[in-house]
Amino acid sequence: MSPLTALLWLVPFLTLSAAASYPAVVNLRNLTGPPQHLAAGILYGLPDPPRTIPEALLKPLHLTAFRSGGAQIPAPGRGWSVSEAEYLPRFASALHDYQIACSLKASFILLPHDLWGSDGTQDQKATYPGDGGWGAYDKFLARVVRDIKEAKMQAGLSVDIWNEADLSAFWTRSRERWEEVWVRAYKVLRRDLPGVKITGPAFAGPPSVMNPWWTGFMALVKRTGTVPDEWVWHLEGGESSMDASHAGLAGLLKMYGLPERPINVDEYGTQVEQTPAGSAWWIGQLERHDARGLRGNWAMGRGLRDGAAGLLSAKRDGGYVVGGEWRVYAYYANMTGVRVGTRAGGDGIVDAYATVDGGRVKVLVGVRKAGMGMGSVRVEGVGSVTGLVENEIIGVRRLIFGVEGQPVDLGVVKLSVVGDAVVLEVGKMERNEALAFEMGGI
Ligand SMILES: *[C@@H]1O[C@H](CO)[C@@H](O)[C@H](O)[C@H]1NC(C)=O
Ligand SMILES: *[C@@H]1O[C@H](CO)[C@@H](O)[C@H](O)[C@H]1NC(C)=O
Repeated sequence: MSPLTALLWLVPFLTLSAAASYPAVVNLRNLTGPPQHLAAGILYGLPDPPRTIPEALLKPLHLTAFRSGGAQIPAPGRGWSVSEAEYLPRFASALHDYQIACSLKASFILLPHDLWGSDGTQDQKATYPGDGGWGAYDKFLARVVRDIKEAKMQAGLSVDIWNEADLSAFWTRSRERWEEVWVRAYKVLRRDLPGVKITGPAFAGPPSVMNPWWTGFMALVKRTGTVPDEWVWHLEGGESSMDASHAGLAGLLKMYGLPERPINVDEYGTQVEQTPAGSAWWIGQLERHDARGLRGNWAMGRGLRDGAAGLLSAKRDGGYVVGGEWRVYAYYANMTGVRVGTRAGGDGIVDAYATVDGGRVKVLVGVRKAGMGMGSVRVEGVGSVTGLVENEIIGVRRLIFGVEGQPVDLGVVKLSVVGDAVVLEVGKMERNEALAFEMGGI
């Protein structure tokens, strides 16, 4: 290619990188329905009895979903693949979490791979469904169904047939074998537990027409009539986003002629993204796509089953320390009224979630990782909520959520309305902090 053509090729890219500084947008005229706290779910995080997390620490979070199956309980509770007796403590743990979910009016996602014992800590020689025939797996399914019925666990229950089969930590057999697990389990669950949701595929890799696990799965559910009640995937790789993976799902559905279903990203956030800034960013991403989401859990062993997926730190004396992220979720729970439409910043790094309630606007803003992006949020349609016109002044209160301690009230700044909008400067978030802006009626 000649130097001149090379230059011409470069121009569109230069334009693109200039676009990278576009602010995130909140549009107060675009009402998108009542808040349902879609992102307020957690993976594991409830302790084994007699230890409990006080209700006073769970209730303010308005948690909407829990997901577990007795993962990483040691002997004699290593799961069905070791023995039927070792399955019992895992089912008991899941039932205990289910009951807490019910008491908080949250839904519950059961994890059969944990009940089986493929929780990432299993022995190299551990068996998987289909090894030496399907007898053991069929017996396992029958037992799980019986225990769900006996415990009256159907209400609010979903079953993620197998977690992250595309990762060797949870599945070391072929993709075809896993597909047979999907169809077998689907048929049994639909027949015997008709009110229970079947969800999946719960792959670690986000949906994409380039991913053989996904294309294989889509072809399979089309061919066998086993479409899940929710499309489920995980976003814990630090690369894809909700905006990108949602587009990936749309591409697959179109390609295979499959229906839209509610979306559930039932593990979200890398370990470094689990900060006040990262949590606020994820809330913005999920809410925009009407996707349910559950915080991933990066602890191990007993710690996995405690601390509300990193929202609390368990102390030796049985108590808990409330972290900065807990306060972000408590604030999120308090964002009442009606949601409004948003768009991520041009670089995808700054994102926001916003609500309007009786003339009062709350905007929660985060960045994916500390130090990334210099951002701002443009709030459009200000007149529709406040009645303010061009060049009038609005007071905006700013709150900052650090990694520990109470949120700090930075006071009220005065901004003028220009083009029916105000621009909230976020600056460079260096310290993993989330920001909240409140305006109207203050
Ligand atoms: C949520 O709202 C309640 C009731 O107005 C209030 O008592 C509580 O302090 C608020 N919590 C947060 C985290 O804003
Ligand atoms: C309203 O917001 C939603 C979600 O952010 C977005 O998908 C939709 O396109 C927006 N509608 C308009 C008219 O801007």
